[in-house]
Amino acid sequence: MRILSGIQPSGALHIGNYLGAIRQYVALQDANDAYYFVADYHALTSVRDAATLHKYVSDVLVDLLALGLDPERAVLFVQSDVPETVELSWLLTSVTPMGWLEKCVSYKDKVQQGLPAEHGLFAYPVLQAADILLYDADLVPVGQDQKQHLEITRDVAERFNHVYGGKKKEVFRLPKPYILDSVAVVPGLDGRKMSKSYSNTIEIFDEPAAIRKKVKKFVTDSTPVEAPKDPDADPLFGLFKLFAKEADRDEVERRYREGGIGYGEVKTRLGEALIETFAEARERRADWVAHPERVAAVRAAGAEKARATARKVLDRARAACGLG
Ligand code: TYM
Repeated sequence: MRILSGIQPSGALHIGNYLGAIRQYVALQDANDAYYFVADYHALTSVRDAATLHKYVSDVLVDLLALGLDPERAVLFVQSDVPETVELSWLLTSVTPMGWLEKCVSYKDKVQQGLPAEHGLFAYPVLQAADILLYDADLVPVGQDQKQHLEITRDVAERFNHVYGGKKKEVFRLPKPYILDSVAVVPGLDGRKMSKSYSNTIEIFDEPAAIRKKVKKFVTDSTPVEAPKDPDADPLFGLFKLFAKEADRDEVERRYREGGIGYGEVKTRLGEALIETFAEARERRADWVAHPERVAAVRAAGAEKARATARKVLDRARAACGLG
């Protein structure tokens, strides 16, 4: 199967990105034909400083390599190294009804949080559809917040196929989202979805001391230590169980139900579990950081492979609608 997914370079990656997406990228790269990219065209909607964007792009490449993406097994590339993306995006735009974009919650959300209501932000889902359709993706591993974008991608593909696909109605392959229930929405420090725009994130590669400090900020209620608590209703436990070893998870869950465990202890244990989970990746990261020429070589090789695939699909789409 062809797997494809992307991640925006709009700041340091957080553990929601890891659990909701990157862990699945790594798991799927072995038995499949996988393409993963850094979505820098998309990040233009929020990052407005060239030096900052440059830094974020290389940081995300390094982070993905450190977290286990293997350039021997997956094509790792930067979106803007494949300018074919933008051309396909225009072809798709021409068959996308305004109403489909107007109902997108992610656009409304971002404007509400103060991002300017620009055309790029509005047309964001069409660019995302181009990312996906350009590689004939079958499966797209993402968190729940991307589900609507995947639906629009399928709708746009079907519309294009219908308008231009001739009798067989086949120009684009229809992709499916791959969303794991248990990590579809990873909670942040305030219990809402972990997200940079809510300032409730725990960054994967923060220093251990910073991680310990951050988890202390997890918002909890005032139930006393000795009172029983419902683990299923507590976002702190929700996060802890995703990183804890099975025995620790069972012990903490039992003590929630019986009473006798305070949130402070759970926070401390969560911090240690996070530090341990990413210890090896932190070492690998230092190694990649020390060898920027290797990262550059991975990027160049990824761009070449991605472009070769993209070119074929773009040519198919151009021919279908009468260009060239
Ligand atoms: P982005 O950069 O916001 O997030 C990258 C991935 O992390 C997932 N994610 C989460 N999953 C569970 N819980 C959370 N709290 C959480 N926060 C983030 C996201 O769902 C995503 O899978 N538009 C995309 C980037 C993109 C893309 C694509 C993705 C551009 N083109 C094509 C797939 C295919 C985005 O902004 O993701």
